[in-house]
Amino acid sequence: MAKMINKRISRYVLTGLYLSIMSFSATAADDDKLKNMCMACHGDNGVNPYQSIPDLRGQSLIYLRNQMAAFKNGERQDITMSKVAQLLSYDDINRLTKYFSEQ
Ligand code: HEC
Repeated sequence: MAKMINKRISRYVLTGLYLSIMSFSATAADDDKLKNMCMACHGDNGVNPYQSIPDLRGQSLIYLRNQMAAFKNGERQDITMSKVAQLLSYDDINRLTKYFSEQ
């Protein structure tokens, strides 16, 4: 069940993520859009109700940043996060992980 929900969320959210990144320029409004994408799965404050999605709240900046880099360079693989990370620049990753590490 969690897997099915996850898949459905994935498809919906990834489409939005593609669209928002394709038209991306680093304004505050665009940053909010990116954050909203993460939040759709990981929850508003980095805590979510889905069993198959890890909470980001309480993780250190270094840990979160390393995980995103690992997803981006293929060291760590996940059907959703690998795609998400590849769509983001390292600048995006720095800003987003900073936000979630401060929750
Ligand atoms: C469609 C759902 C979805 C979206 C959107 C999403 N994530 Fe994830 N995220 C996941 C799942 C599922 C995992 C667990 C992957 C695994 O099992 O390796 C994960 C794992 C992570 C991890 C590793 C956490 C850990 O404890 O090791 C980080 C960091 C992360 N996501 C950050 C983000 C950020 C930042 C965004 C927004 C740019 C984002 N995610 C968008 C579903 C999502």
